Amino acid sequence: SFTNPTEEGNNSLIVVSNRLPFVLKRGSNGVLQRSHSAGGLVTAVAPVVTKCNGKWIGWPGLFDLGGHEKVPEASDDDKSPTAGLKSNQVIPVNIPENDFEEFYNGFCNGTLWPLFHSFSCKITYDRNSWQTYQKVNDYFAEKTVEALRYQQEVILVDEEIPIVWIHDYQLLLCPARIRELAEDEGLSCKLGFFLHIPFPSYDMLNTLEGSEEILYGMLACDVIGFHIDLYSQNFLESCLRKLGCRVDFDNKTVEIGSRVVRVRTLPIGIPFDKFEECAKNAPKVNGQKDEKDTKLIISVDRVDYTKGLVQKVRAIEKLLEKHRHEYAGKLTFLQIGVPSRTNIKEYQSLHNELSREIGRVNGKFSTADWYPIQFMYKGLPQDELAAYYRDSDVALVTPLVDGMNLVAKEFVACQINNSGALVLSYFAGAAESMKEALMVNPYEVNLLADSLHKALQMSSSECQLRMEKLRARERKFDVHYWMSSFLEEMRFVESIEKPKLPT
Ligand code: F6P
Repeated sequence: SFTNPTEEGNNSLIVVSNRLPFVLKRGSNGVLQRSHSAGGLVTAVAPVVTKCNGKWIGWPGLFDLGGHEKVPEASDDDKSPTAGLKSNQVIPVNIPENDFEEFYNGFCNGTLWPLFHSFSCKITYDRNSWQTYQKVNDYFAEKTVEALRYQQEVILVDEEIPIVWIHDYQLLLCPARIRELAEDEGLSCKLGFFLHIPFPSYDMLNTLEGSEEILYGMLACDVIGFHIDLYSQNFLESCLRKLGCRVDFDNKTVEIGSRVVRVRTLPIGIPFDKFEECAKNAPKVNGQKDEKDTKLIISVDRVDYTKGLVQKVRAIEKLLEKHRHEYAGKLTFLQIGVPSRTNIKEYQSLHNELSREIGRVNGKFSTADWYPIQFMYKGLPQDELAAYYRDSDVALVTPLVDGMNLVAKEFVACQINNSGALVLSYFAGAAESMKEALMVNPYEVNLLADSLHKALQMSSSECQLRMEKLRARERKFDVHYWMSSFLEEMRFVESIEKPKLPT
């Protein structure tokens, strides 16, 4: 039997992701505290885990957590989506610091991240970090099976079968290991996986020594979700060509042994209402929109080479070269760049190059009382971000490649007056559905500048027409819809067979 845990019911949901839904920090007095992150996944999934008495398994964000040290309960004034999660629902996976270096900076973000984004020139191939990746995936699997054991012994009545929902490229091997351990112990569960980044072409994947193991790792699941059809098709093709599995491309299924794995395209959304609410209530961040003649272009990205940050700066340069008299003194490009993976060399050199390019372009056009590019190298709280989105004339969302890109969606959610324009890269997963945006090729800096000009000059009636459609779609297909759709897919899954105990 099955009840979608988003509805009333008892099925337990065990979420497994690289990071816990909050970071643990140790205060100067040594006491642990929960520190919150505002991601859409957490907003949608944490309340459901709370409601069905499920568990969330992940890395806590620190290295000195004692074996028997407990995750603290939420404080009384905690209003975040994770506030309802009790201490015993949050299971930290301790990763020794040395392993973490090879796992996170090494295989996850030095190998898989560039490979899955098809940045072949940035891939590091390293046997040690692959071995550590295997080992760390085992840590996660062991914790998950511990949780399953507990669910089975303490909470479950016969018909309730827990769903284990594993997330993202850091844990590609985890499903196979969980299945193996659960089968050994006769523990029932259903396994689902969602990949939050692109899945590469067969040719690209094939350059990886462990590609076979990765495919088998994922195929231990009953349902595997991707953002867009291209990634689903790439995965199916790899299963056919690399493993020789029987694949049905129309129904998106893969046969493996006696099982049929369902591959599903389920594009993620955002907590639309939450962003809209923030945009309605947040105070103005600056007077830009009050001064009729000034224009604000906004970009928000992690500082990552997939995001096309340098190309954007060059597009601003081109725009000012082409239309200097129109925009000089009146245009600001605000790049919010969230620091990311700062221990990795590629990320450090990108930050340096970006700062240099911004300095060069600002130096070229600035006057005594104006410069065109503002760069904030930090993340902002959600309400401040919502105010920037709301008060911007244009959002420039032009990654070179991106699994989905939620910034495009957050921007439209905050456009409560339907007055802004979205410039969007063809190469973001979001481009599959956000057809009313101005679409661009982010590599073509000249065309990027022309699109920006067009967006800045767009009539208010055209902005409104486009924005209304964009907003209606994102409101409907929000993160809650995405989560329910995934869990609904799990409804049809037969659980891992529970062996009969000898009588
Ligand atoms: O988009 C993939 C992803 O791993 C997200 O899950 C995460 O929010 C983001 O990249 C940042 O990742 P990291 O954990 O490396 O900071």
